[in-house]
Formats: sequence, structure tokens, C-alpha cells
Amino acid sequence: MGFAVAAAAVARGADVLLVAGPVSLPTPAGLARIDVRSAAQMHEAVMATLPCDVYVGAAAVADYTPASISPAKIKKQPGQDGLVLQLVRTRDILADVASHASRPALVVGFAAETQDVDDYARAKLVAKNLDLIAANRVGVEGSGFESDANTLIVHDAQGATTLGPAAKTELAHGLLDLIEARLP
Ligand code: CTP
Ligand code: CA
Repeated sequence: MGFAVAAAAVARGADVLLVAGPVSLPTPAGLARIDVRSAAQMHEAVMATLPCDVYVGAAAVADYTPASISPAKIKKQPGQDGLVLQLVRTRDILADVASHASRPALVVGFAAETQDVDDYARAKLVAKNLDLIAANRVGVEGSGFESDANTLIVHDAQGATTLGPAAKTELAHGLLDLIEARLP
């Protein structure tokens, strides 16, 4: 979805910087792309792009990351039937952009949910101080991750607009229409 929004924004004449995690998608024409692997690298790359006019956070950023990285191979131990990995929270990139001194005029997030989609999305809109949040039901056939057709419920402080079901490119333009209408 992030790649679709980036490509659609280029088509409308925006200068776009796409910060991407490890995905096997080709780079859309006409934009700059920075590839990152970890949530920490994505945080750093995004912060370095500020100020900008619009930020769209579509990545499914990991909420937790290993507390430490072993320099050597971790050998299994005799009699050890399970393994517990210590994880720590990552920083919330979207929330940090929205509270930044150089906050973009429009900060837009996504919310992937399996249940209570609209309630969770509205809670995130408020908690992260966003202008728009696109809620996305995942875990059901034919929507969300890895599928091309999808439905987005886009919330702002006033209410919600449903986009789709439609292909990601069409949804991206629908989301950009909502963004454009709110630009100062
Ligand atoms: N997000 C982010 N940085 C993180 C975690 C999430 O920028 N470390 C962004 C995502 O890109 C998305 C939005 O926050 O735009 C919501 O992500 P989501 O996983 O739906 O919500 P969380 O706030 O992480 O809450 P939870 O996973 O507990 O539902
Ligand atoms: Ca999350």
C-alpha cells in the first residue's frame, strides 16, 4: 500500500521519498527510495527527511526488536526444548513524526486490525495526533497484506470515509484526494 501511495503521489506531481523495509517490490518511477531493514533504521531515515509537507506511514513496522544481537551463532543447549528471546519496544515512527518540532502539515497513518477496526483506528488517530488514519481489516480473505484489492476506512477527527473495495492504486488515489483536500 505504501508503494501504491508513493507512485500515485508521483503521478500527481509530488516530490516523493519512499523509505522502504525489506520488500521485493520494484521502485516506482520518478521517486527517491531509501531501503532499510530495521525499525531503528526506518526511524532514523524518516527523521532525516523532515521537514516535509505530508507524511504517510504505511509500513507494518515491528513493535518489538531483539534486546541484543548475538555476534556468534546461538548454539542449542542439551536438554533445552524451548527458547525465549528477549524483545524490547521499538520507537513509534509515526507518533514521533506527528510530535516533531518540524511536524508535516498532514500526518497520515494506517491501522491494520483483525477486530474492532474502527474503534482501534480512532484511538490511534487521537493517541498519535494524526490528521488521517486509514483502517484496514487484515486476516480476512481478499484484503490487507499481500492482496491487491482492499477496503480502507479513512478516519479524521470529524468522521470516516470508505474507499473501495478497489485495487491498491485506486485506493491510493482516493487517499490522496482526502490528503489534498486538507492541505493548507
Ligand atoms: N508505526 C510506526 N512505528 C512503529 C509502530 C507503528 O510508525 N514502531 C505506525 C505504522 O506504520 C502505522 C501505525 O503506526 O501507520 C499503526 O500501526 P499499527 O501496528 O496498526 O498500530 P500500533 O500503534 O503499533 O498498535 P498495535 O500494533 O498495538 O495495534
Ligand atoms: Ca504495531
